Amino acid sequence: MNLKRKIAVVTGVSSEFGIALASALIAKDVLVYGIARKLEKLNALQTQLGKSFTPVALEITDQKAITVWVKNTFSESHTPDIIINNAGIGYLRKMDELSQEQWHQMINANLNGTFYLTSSFVPLRKKTRISVTLSILILF
Ligand SMILES: NC(=O)c1ccc[n+]([C@@H]2O[C@H](COP(=O)([O-])OP(=O)(O)OC[C@H]3O[C@@H](n4cnc5c(N)ncnc54)[C@H](OP(=O)(O)O)[C@@H]3O)[C@@H](O)[C@H]2O)c1
Repeated sequence: MNLKRKIAVVTGVSSEFGIALASALIAKDVLVYGIARKLEKLNALQTQLGKSFTPVALEITDQKAITVWVKNTFSESHTPDIIINNAGIGYLRKMDELSQEQWHQMINANLNGTFYLTSSFVPLRKKTRISVTLSILILF
């Protein structure tokens, strides 16, 4: 598949898996918008990956912030071709050892965040063409 100059959005980009995904895409000449919350890690990643990587400090559970970012960054002539929902939280413990707050954190990041980000691109995608969307979700 020729991915030259395609545009990708990768969440959880500062995780090991996110870095591997962003690196692999950039090696294929894809422009990557990498999302995580901690700017320091994102900036270090930009130094490592170069100018094909744009760091985006964003909380994926904040639907309003996502909407604003998408509106300010993308247009009909500059739309993501690939969206990878990799950001997530996994509290690896038994159900009776999991607090309600931890459960809500997982649902918010893993499910709501995926919905907020992906759905925010639908109007633009409808005006352009079909995208590839990959979600890596973990639920217990
Ligand atoms: N590791 C495993 O064994 C495993 C197994 C199956 C599935 N998974 C799933 O694969 C994905 C990556 O796993 P991992 O172990 O590499 O995770 P990780 O090291 O904990 O990294 C999570 C990533 O998501 C970002 N993130 C978390 N919450 C966020 C939020 N609310 N808004 C924006 N960014 C957020 C983190 O950056 P910031 O903290 O800077 O925001 C980080 O880049 C996750 O979805 C995880 O649930 C992992």
